[in-house]
Amino acid sequence: MNSKRTPLIAGNWKMHHGGASGVTLAGEIVALSRSVPHVELLVAPPFTVLAAIAHECDGSKVLLAAQNVHEKDKGAYTGEISAAMLVDSGCTWVILGHSERRQMFGDTDAWVARKTAAALEAGLSPIVCVGETLEEREQGKTLEVVLRQVAAVTEVLAKASLPVAIAYEPVWAIGTGKVAGPAEAEEVHAAIRAALAKVAPALAEKTRILYGGSLKPDNADALLACTNVDGGLIGGASLDASQFGAIARAAEGLAIRFPS
Ligand code: PGA
Repeated sequence: MNSKRTPLIAGNWKMHHGGASGVTLAGEIVALSRSVPHVELLVAPPFTVLAAIAHECDGSKVLLAAQNVHEKDKGAYTGEISAAMLVDSGCTWVILGHSERRQMFGDTDAWVARKTAAALEAGLSPIVCVGETLEEREQGKTLEVVLRQVAAVTEVLAKASLPVAIAYEPVWAIGTGKVAGPAEAEEVHAAIRAALAKVAPALAEKTRILYGGSLKPDNADALLACTNVDGGLIGGASLDASQFGAIARAAEGLAIRFPS
């Protein structure tokens, strides 16, 4: 964590809590947001419950994100949702290029870049996810893969006036209980920031680089304390307000120690 950037603790609900239970969880997160004044909180529920959660979060500081977007603004794209529609539903952020989308739904670097541009154009801030597979890590290709994914969106992000974030999520750590150690995470986060700085120093300064992959209350302190870790993108532990709250409080404790 670093005094230059407000920590962002984001919950990626994936395909969970798409109805009444999501509204309840959002209400609990709104309540806990009052106890973490130095931290930004964000929830990314399924599309079906976005509008209801926007209503629940209205007047609070909890930010609302979608988990994907289509690159076109309208047309014959059955089953897809545009950035303008997400804005209409109350979103201000969108998660893009999550490894589950890259692996299961064919999202490529180029496609993620076009979605990022479409999101920003419509007024949505992106959280662009990057990360290597276990095989790539074992082959010593972690930085090559991650920096290639970052390079695909750097120019688009550099033009943005809105806040932007990148989430480093080692694919082998997602939902597995295996977590990158603080030193492993910091190495990649620092490399991402250095790569951004080469192209656009102001972008490197403002971009929140989140860690994701089995981030839990018991490892949050150590990971969030890393200089270039500006928050977290949390899957499993974001489905429960007490666990998400514990991670948010860890970030709050660090933010108070490193005041801006
Ligand atoms: P996890 O998921 O916290 O359950 O590992 C993180 C993510 O996929 O964003």
